[in-house]
Amino acid sequence: MDTTYFNDSNLESRFTLANSYKDINPQKNALEVVVNVSNINSGFFFPLNEKLPGSYFWQVYPQQIKIAWTENSREIIVTWISYNNLTGRLAYRKSYCIECSIPSEWIFIRSNVSEYDFGDNFSNIQYIHSVRISELNEDCVYEYLVGLYSFWSELFIIKGKTPNYIHKTVYNKTEEPVKFTIIGDWGTGAQGQYTERLLEKDLDLRPVDGIIHLGDIAYDLDSNNGEVGDEFLRMIQPIAARFPYMTLPGNHEYFKNMTHYTNRFKMPRNNDNQGTGLFYSFNLGYAHFILINTEVYFRPKQLFGINTQDNWLVKDLKKANENREQVPWVFVFMHRPIYCSSIKDDCSSFADSLKNKLEDIFNEYSVDVVFQAHSHIYERTYPIYNGKEKSGLRSKHVYKSAEAPIYIVNGHAGSREGHDSLFKPKFETWHILGFEKDYGYGRLEVYNKTHMYYEEFSSEKGEIIDHFWTIKSKARYNI
Ligand SMILES: [Fe+2]
Repeated sequence: MDTTYFNDSNLESRFTLANSYKDINPQKNALEVVVNVSNINSGFFFPLNEKLPGSYFWQVYPQQIKIAWTENSREIIVTWISYNNLTGRLAYRKSYCIECSIPSEWIFIRSNVSEYDFGDNFSNIQYIHSVRISELNEDCVYEYLVGLYSFWSELFIIKGKTPNYIHKTVYNKTEEPVKFTIIGDWGTGAQGQYTERLLEKDLDLRPVDGIIHLGDIAYDLDSNNGEVGDEFLRMIQPIAARFPYMTLPGNHEYFKNMTHYTNRFKMPRNNDNQGTGLFYSFNLGYAHFILINTEVYFRPKQLFGINTQDNWLVKDLKKANENREQVPWVFVFMHRPIYCSSIKDDCSSFADSLKNKLEDIFNEYSVDVVFQAHSHIYERTYPIYNGKEKSGLRSKHVYKSAEAPIYIVNGHAGSREGHDSLFKPKFETWHILGFEKDYGYGRLEVYNKTHMYYEEFSSEKGEIIDHFWTIKSKARYNI
């Protein structure tokens, strides 16, 4: 059988870079160095003489590759698409572990394939491949690639760190902060591409554990017969194939009862969300992450009734609070804002409507920070409840013992709709600061049980436009 070996043309430069990183800081973040500049020593081969039944290259070459965490601990799901219904394959192996730097053998898994027509005016049938990689070890990084017959993707390096669904435990080996990119309202076009390039380079230098996209994806996933969604997913592949890309739906995902969204993004599924992944939660390190679907409050014919999500949300928060000693931070991520200062109705009548439904829950269960989007601005509030600022802002960039949730609007990644405007010249008293002329994204870092850090990056200016620490006490929850 004729065989060849996987050839990484950048191998030498990546190896040099990896070593230079280790020289600078040989002890710290060893896994993170490997995630981005792995000293891959090849070893992957595939048979070249497999017969490919009459297909064009574009039909079988894997594209729109991305990964996400699932409802199971120690597991990720890898998804990609092809335009041919042949069964795909994924190959993966441990490439580096803290206690063992010798790569393991390659493991091959055949893909599950489902068909969906993303077209509207005419057909855009795609074959969605998915493979779950289980039993991941948080002390290791892995490498994987996907393919159909002899057409294989490039090779991606990923962390073995995954959510823990057992509330009574936290990661005890990993002393590194939990780190996330938070991004909202991100589409294709010049602005979206510019943000993607900067984020990609940022993540090369400062990798994260995961990415949370706060809804409004591609503008829109279904536009131009689904081709805008395809273009967006190809655009984000360099990051989404390397870092778990966790999403929630916004108003731009509503087309065909969100089926474009749910077919493209396989989020954690459970009995409460009836297998759709439209709302879910997970623990990572010292933080509990809750992602909800605010469209349920604005769409009378939504897939789920309001009560379904509300009941789950309260149940989930109660469970999180029972474990607050171990996992003290609770964050909520959602698309539409409760507090924001744009001139649109989204920050007045619609925000008030949402506030009536959710604010009491967030306050009662002592949510720390609520991350919102939808308004194409960046904005940050005082700790706030019922329109009144509560104590807990020690200085402009430090919260201490906040007595109510802090609200952030982060909906300015870049889309064809451009910027929104902030109210001028007078803001509500709970407004701390905001930016209306920047495209960008945020970075969340949870350091330990008492300290978290957040910064907002402008891809327009190429600089950090806001940052803050939150230092917490036990006073706000009953433990
Ligand atoms: Fe929106």
